[in-house]
Amino acid sequence: MRAPEGLQSVGGRQGLKGSQLLEVSEFGTGDFRTPSMDVCFRKDGSRLLPLVYKHHRVIDGILPSTSGLPFLGRHNSQGAQSLVVDMVDTYTEVQVQLVYTVFPSISAVSRRMVVKNSSKVGLGGVDLMKCMSATFDFSTDDWHLLSLHGGWANERHINTRRIQEGMIHLGSNRGVSSHQMNPFCVLSSGPPAEDHGQCFGFCLLYSGNWLMEVEQSQTGCVRVNVGLSNTHFSWALGNQESFETPECVCVFSDAGLGKMTRTFQHLIGERLIAPRWHDLVCPVLINTWEALYFEVYHDKILEFAKPAIEAGVELLVLDDGWFGKRDDDTTSLGDWVEDPRKLPRGLKGLAQDVNAMGLKLGIWVEPEMVNQDSQLYRSHPEWVLHHPGRLRSEGRNQLVLDLTRREVQDYIIDCVSQILSSANIEYIKWDMNRALTDAFSAALPPQQQGEVYHRYVLGLYRIFEVLTSSFPHVLFESCASGGGRFDAALLAWCPQAWCSDNSDAFSRTRIQMGTSMWAPVRCMGAHIAACPSHQTHRTHMLKTRFIVALWGTFGLELDLNKLSREELKEMKELVALRGKLCQVVLHGEYFRLPGFGYPGASHSNSAGIGDSHVYAWMFVTPEKDRAVVSAIVFHRDTVGKFPSRLKLQGLRPDYLYSLIEHVPTTVEEGVFNGIFQPGGPQFKHRRRLMLTGAVLMEVGIPVHFNFDGDAMLLELEVGGPSQEPKESNGVHVLAS
Ligand code: DGJ
Repeated sequence: MRAPEGLQSVGGRQGLKGSQLLEVSEFGTGDFRTPSMDVCFRKDGSRLLPLVYKHHRVIDGILPSTSGLPFLGRHNSQGAQSLVVDMVDTYTEVQVQLVYTVFPSISAVSRRMVVKNSSKVGLGGVDLMKCMSATFDFSTDDWHLLSLHGGWANERHINTRRIQEGMIHLGSNRGVSSHQMNPFCVLSSGPPAEDHGQCFGFCLLYSGNWLMEVEQSQTGCVRVNVGLSNTHFSWALGNQESFETPECVCVFSDAGLGKMTRTFQHLIGERLIAPRWHDLVCPVLINTWEALYFEVYHDKILEFAKPAIEAGVELLVLDDGWFGKRDDDTTSLGDWVEDPRKLPRGLKGLAQDVNAMGLKLGIWVEPEMVNQDSQLYRSHPEWVLHHPGRLRSEGRNQLVLDLTRREVQDYIIDCVSQILSSANIEYIKWDMNRALTDAFSAALPPQQQGEVYHRYVLGLYRIFEVLTSSFPHVLFESCASGGGRFDAALLAWCPQAWCSDNSDAFSRTRIQMGTSMWAPVRCMGAHIAACPSHQTHRTHMLKTRFIVALWGTFGLELDLNKLSREELKEMKELVALRGKLCQVVLHGEYFRLPGFGYPGASHSNSAGIGDSHVYAWMFVTPEKDRAVVSAIVFHRDTVGKFPSRLKLQGLRPDYLYSLIEHVPTTVEEGVFNGIFQPGGPQFKHRRRLMLTGAVLMEVGIPVHFNFDGDAMLLELEVGGPSQEPKESNGVHVLAS
């Protein structure tokens, strides 16, 4: 029997499509894996969208975007090329564009998707129910997944697992990229390693609800689907309207995670961060939060500033508490006017006094939020995200402003602009202290309620775009209860981000190891905080806290008035040392150093994978003439065992480097390793070593830690090209 006129079927084996490696995939026509897209045609409820290739073009530069989303090359598209592939559903004529961008000499591709409702007249509106940025299909291999997990004060810990049949969901539905999972993952062929093996890293440039699906199907093939979360998501596309996804950046490395990291760091540093911050040497700042909390009175702040100047600090950051009647966290968010009790001469007067002392002034704001106890809430209760008929939930006593509304965006822009115009403020810490719930906007019609989460993020990006263009000299640092919104997207406007509310040196080591998987070190907000730690109550010596804070923006978060004269002198020396080393740290090549540790431990762990007790990392200038090396021990296995030699990376094998050890460890007198030793400052190496890059990288250097929590800091300077070694092992030893 013949099929009725117009009805035809595609011949062939069912499931064939489901085993192909596809660039975009829809559900319902033979591919049973998780799809790139899901649509619903309003007219008849149909959800099918089989796409076929129409044509493609290669363009110099980047396909313009009007969505307001950040993308690589936005400020610096030099040498970029884009491939635009047009796909179409021949029945409805809905069009889908796959947009790929590459940059010269970089093993990476970014991908976004644009959907246009160009459907035939009569088919009406289309609702996007799922619309991923990128779908990457891989053929069978021993695939492993690395992802970053945690929680508040415990962000971005490295997690690895072997991929097996089934689906792994990574993502956030908290309205922010989240403390719990970070919009980043790595697919590696075999267990991920720092310095060998093939791996593909995926980083989504997005700050709201996101999803990464990693699915191994019955064939062994693996699909990685990256994009917006589809939970409570839908987007109504009227006739001829388009929707653009965030951009996903995929980096390939044929030499392990280390090379992948350096590619991400280059791309983000050079192609995403605004050019005016490219050479930024983050100013040494001191923040009032853990020292004064809400007690930020003008005179107290000046007292707080005095020893900071002596220590070499450049910027004072006035954290929470300066506005409204904010004596605790129950009140005043939304009322961005100075509290006259605390700042009788306002921010202007404070800035004048702080500037006169030789410091810059920065302030904390949290403009996306409102407390019920505020003038703003009393005037505009409708500006809060909530469903008018339902109970809503608060977080930290606060409600979330409805950033989907233009008038709310403008209110925030006006408030922050007024503050920045009123006083000489050169830095903003932009905080955000709760997740989104009750995501209903009274300003949107019923069929657009699924757009609230995404429109919130677009509203936030517009606010940042306007403010950073109007005040280009102001350095913005983002923060969300610590590291709850540490994503690549925000770096487009805020070149620094607060890593975590936990500044304990051990906790921070693991947090910064994970964060450094994709983030440039100069973006990672890191401070020396008080001791014992306000978060863990652990005690670490200043040297160790310094070495961990050096591995980031570097700042202080403690009351220097509480230090003794000797401690303040030591702090001053450390700040000066940071000045000497920061160019190498902030703008050098970064290496996590694996293969270092005590016998019995898994040595690859010293670069952050798994649970290690020893960590090491280093930075090398592009010319390879200077380097900074750091190592820290959490727990020594026994007092008698020595760790393996620390093998360095990234040096020139033929250069001869002079090793300068900074900051001795001060020990009490006692018996160490069976020998009585006098107390006092001790270096790991009593003599200054000169070693070739080859010896440093292939043989390594011995490091003896004195006790748990000990750390080491080395600076390497090239001492000239290598001569014939005078000793058989190629080691030159000079008296110090
Ligand atoms: C959370 C931040 O992470 C802290 O550093 C501090 O700014 C507080 N908010 C202030 O409320």
